[in-house]
Amino acid sequence: MRNLPIGVFDSGIGGLTVVKSILKELPKESIIYLGDTARVPYGTRDNDTIKKFSVELTKFMINKNVKAIVVACNTMSAVALDEIRRTAGKIPVIDVITPTIEEAIRLKGTSVLGVIGTRATAHSRAFQAQIARHGKHYKVIQTACPLFVPLVEEGLVNGKVTELVAKDYLEEINKSNADVLILACTHYPMLSKVIRKVLRRTLKIIDCASPTAKYLKELLNDQNLLNLNKSSPELKFYVTDNPDRSFEIANIFFDGKFPGKIEKISL
Ligand code: DGL
Repeated sequence: MRNLPIGVFDSGIGGLTVVKSILKELPKESIIYLGDTARVPYGTRDNDTIKKFSVELTKFMINKNVKAIVVACNTMSAVALDEIRRTAGKIPVIDVITPTIEEAIRLKGTSVLGVIGTRATAHSRAFQAQIARHGKHYKVIQTACPLFVPLVEEGLVNGKVTELVAKDYLEEINKSNADVLILACTHYPMLSKVIRKVLRRTLKIIDCASPTAKYLKELLNDQNLLNLNKSSPELKFYVTDNPDRSFEIANIFFDGKFPGKIEKISL
């Protein structure tokens, strides 16, 4: 069991930001990644469609015999987590929302949380519901940024167009009294330079990658699932469309050292 891979999936290449942190936190683990690039973005679709796609990605991971699943997508975590868990059965499933909120709350002085994500994540109000469980005094200011995911998938992670869009999307949060900004979409860390540039300086930024990787490590440890084997782990990356393009963009995010090939599969 311990030697089996961890399954990580997203609607596209955004979940690779989570993979990067998992590689740092758990360097001995084998990983199977799937990005549904043929159907990205999910965040503009209705809940039934997101649930249907999420179940298909989960089934792919079950067939690959993974020991745990990381839903490296806020949209699926917000809308389809029950369906994913039901499909996964005994395989433990980790979402990206729970660890990220816990991390944001742990930060000193957090009381007003800015949250940016896809339209489906915003509509789900999953962040508001989970943050409220930590105390009624927390305030949430949420903005949907539907153009961010296509910009990343297009490789437009820098430049004037992206900056203009970011400025517009972040205006309300910039003017608010938010003290922390949660990047509630796993694609957004790829835009972090632009986001930092247009964001009010006093706002701290939190993304899902590192909190989720740490949470995963704890879970694997608790369930005696950590890989203790010394042989080198296997990393497999799959997308449902355009693997070369995905590789190009992913490679920028990995500073030219993307740790594998990206292959195309169909679901
Ligand atoms: N990376 C996904 C997320 O975290 C993007 C969703 C989409 O495809 O719109 O929400």
